[in-house]
Amino acid sequence: MIIRDYKVKDELGWVRCRTLAFLQTAYFDHVLNKKEHYENPTIELVAELDGQIVGLIDVEYEKEERTVCSRGEGLGGMIWHIAVHPDFSRQGIGQQLLYAAENKAKKIGLNRLEAWTRDDLWVQNWYKKMNFNIVDSYYHIYFEGDEMNQRIQNNMPNLYLVNAFTHYVGEDIEQYKTNNKRIHQCVCFEKYL
Ligand SMILES: CC(C)(COP(=O)(O)OP(=O)(O)OC[C@H]1O[C@@H](n2cnc3c(N)ncnc32)[C@H](O)[C@@H]1OP(=O)(O)O)[C@@H](O)C(=O)NCCC(=O)NCCS
Repeated sequence: MIIRDYKVKDELGWVRCRTLAFLQTAYFDHVLNKKEHYENPTIELVAELDGQIVGLIDVEYEKEERTVCSRGEGLGGMIWHIAVHPDFSRQGIGQQLLYAAENKAKKIGLNRLEAWTRDDLWVQNWYKKMNFNIVDSYYHIYFEGDEMNQRIQNNMPNLYLVNAFTHYVGEDIEQYKTNNKRIHQCVCFEKYL
């Protein structure tokens, strides 16, 4: 297995690896059909085994404080994607990808990495094992059917909300737990390098 920079020809393998990895998480329906590209500079690495992309990490980093990261001082990097193909999980590939990205980040002069993830305990445990700390959180709420229409004044005639994806940053999440089947806590992890 080698860890190397992402190349354009890796796109299909990158998409397949990320999709399969995320299928088993609370991001199961956040499917991308092409590789994400970024406004700022990046560290984009893949793990390749026998010609197959089995892991990936994308870090977008700042040239100016707080233009990518949501918090902290100094220049940081945001992990937008880290994924290991489920057939190759728990073999240290995620850790190796992270460490390779950290080495590059330190050479560039970044002082920290930030990552947001939902409430999959096993993924959170992986971040904790990699010495990240939880520093913030808010909620992702999916409203389906009539749930949202009952809660808001819809001033648009003939337009009915069927489903909605929302961010809730308040303190009273209990009020939304009555009908909602899908509420995720979105957690911010941070690691100083
Ligand atoms: C999180 C992830 C990147 C870890 O990669 P990995 O190569 O499988 O993990 P590593 O080999 O580096 O570390 C192994 C540890 O991760 C955790 N872990 C990984 N897969 C796990 C699973 N299926 N069930 C429970 N714990 C798991 C365990 O703590 C494990 O240690 P253990 O085997 O001693 O119990 C990978 O599992 C993944 O792609 N997850 C889905 C995508 C995701 O949620 N990404 C982060 C949000 S952007």
